[in-house]
Amino acid sequence: MKTKIAFLREFLRNPGTVGAVAPSSPSLAREMVRQAGVPQARTIVEFGPGTGAFTREIVEQAAPEARFLAIERNPALARILQQELPSVQVCHDSVENLGAILHREGIDQVDCILSGLPWAAFPEQLQDRLLEEACKNLAPQGFFVTFAYLQGLLLPAGRRFARKIRGRFTHVEKSPVVWRNLPPAFVYRCQR
Ligand SMILES: C[S@@+](CC[C@H](N)C(=O)[O-])C[C@H]1O[C@@H](n2cnc3c(N)ncnc32)[C@H](O)[C@@H]1O
Repeated sequence: MKTKIAFLREFLRNPGTVGAVAPSSPSLAREMVRQAGVPQARTIVEFGPGTGAFTREIVEQAAPEARFLAIERNPALARILQQELPSVQVCHDSVENLGAILHREGIDQVDCILSGLPWAAFPEQLQDRLLEEACKNLAPQGFFVTFAYLQGLLLPAGRRFARKIRGRFTHVEKSPVVWRNLPPAFVYRCQR
């Protein structure tokens, strides 16, 4: 409950970057991790972990020897996540700096990226910069997974984002709808 209140408080303070009033559900977390192939990955990066809805599932499913970085730009959420999951390497930074973060950590390429970023709340130029960082640093056979709310498919911003990822990645697949999430959502699985 404490983390849910903190999430809502940070949304009210920063609606344009937090982008949701509540964390994602365990069902959506499981679908994200399944689509990303987390158990097979040697290097895993999470974009925008917030209070750790996906992070907990990643920790459970990742191989013990895998490298895992969670990049969160909100200082309060990064602090809470680090306290809640001390074994996770939380980078308090923006995904815009992904290349520099990986270089500092001695990581060449990433096998899977799981994004919790609120794409529809971002201006187009920021979407482009963030997607460019993801593409540049993803291994050739790697997976980039991200979720979208079902109702977003009816909105111009959601449809524009769908076109954008189809333009950037060679293979894009949509998961079945995860009804046990508020609002219902689905996962895009993308490969370069
Ligand atoms: C919609 S919340 C999702 C949180 C969590 N993944 C979930 O699904 O419950 C989006 C998160 O992305 C973070 N965020 C937004 N822009 C970011 C950026 N450029 N770099 C890193 N994190 C960012 C926000 O602070 C917030 O924690």
